[in-house]
Amino acid sequence: METENKAQTEEEVEMPNRDLSEQIKEATKDSHVRAENTGLMLSYQKGQVTLAQYKLLLCSLHHIYVALEEELDKNSSHPGVAPIYFPTELARRELIEEDLEHFYGQDWREKMVVPKAAERYAHRLRQIGEENPEFLIAHAYTRYLGDLSGGQVLGRITQKSLGLKNGDGVAFFTFPGVSSPNRFKQLYRSRMNSVELTEEQRKGVLEEAVQAFELNIQVFDALQDLVSSMQREADRQTQTSQAEQLNGTQ
Ligand code: HEM
Repeated sequence: METENKAQTEEEVEMPNRDLSEQIKEATKDSHVRAENTGLMLSYQKGQVTLAQYKLLLCSLHHIYVALEEELDKNSSHPGVAPIYFPTELARRELIEEDLEHFYGQDWREKMVVPKAAERYAHRLRQIGEENPEFLIAHAYTRYLGDLSGGQVLGRITQKSLGLKNGDGVAFFTFPGVSSPNRFKQLYRSRMNSVELTEEQRKGVLEEAVQAFELNIQVFDALQDLVSSMQREADRQTQTSQAEQLNGTQ
C-alpha cells in the first residue's frame, strides 16, 4: 500500500499537470531554447535577416507546410486530428506561395532551392500521416503555435531588415482568419487537451514534439550552411573578376 502511494506521489511530481498543452510546452522547453540559438534565429534576434536567408526559409517552409497540410487534410476526421484541424485559420501554403512568387517570379517552382533537411522533415510528416495520425498534433503545435507566437515578431523583423512595403513578401507571417493570436492559442490549447489519448500515445506525441523541434533545427542549420556556401561562391567570383580586371589594365 505504501509503495502504491509513493508511486502515485512520484508520478504527480513528474507530471504535475496532465493537460497535453502544458506537458508539450514543458517537454519542448529545452528544444525551444536550442531552436532560438540556431544561426538563423540569432540573425533574426539581431534584426539582421538577409534576403538569401529569408528566401531559403520560404522554400523550406513551403516544402514542410505542403506535407503538413496535406496530411492534416487527409486525416481531418481522425479523432486525434479533428479537434485541432483549423485550415481556414491556420493554413500557410497559399500565403507562402504568394511570397515565393514575390521573390522568385511566376516560375518560382522551378527556381526553388530546398535543403535535404526540409525533405527529411516532409518525409517524417508523410510517414506519421500514414502510420500515427495523432502525432500530427505535435507537428501542428510546433509550427502553428510558433508562428502565432515568436513568429509574429519575426515577421516584423523580416519586413524591416529587407525594407519590404505594403506586406509584400511577408504573407507567411499573417493570419487573416485569426483576430487575436492569444485568444486563438487558448482555444487551440483547449482543443489539444480535449484529444483522447492512451498513455502510450501521449508519450509518443510528446516525443514527436521534441523531434519536430529537432527537424526544424536541422532545417535552420542546413539553410545557414547553404547561405554561407553561396556567400563564399559569390566572394570567389568577385575576387576572380577583380583579378581579371586588374590583369586587363596592366
Ligand atoms: C512560443 C519566442 C523560435 C515554437 C513562443 C513565445 C515566445 C517565443 C515569446 C511565447 C511564449 C509564451 O506564450 O509563453 C521565440 C523567439 C524565437 C522563437 C524569439 C526565435 C527567434 C521558435 C521556433 C519554434 C518555436 C524556431 C519552432 C519551430 C514555439 C511554440 C510556442 C512558442 C510551439 C508555443 C509554446 C506554448 O505556448 O506552448 N516563442 N520563438 N519558436 N514558440 Fe517560439
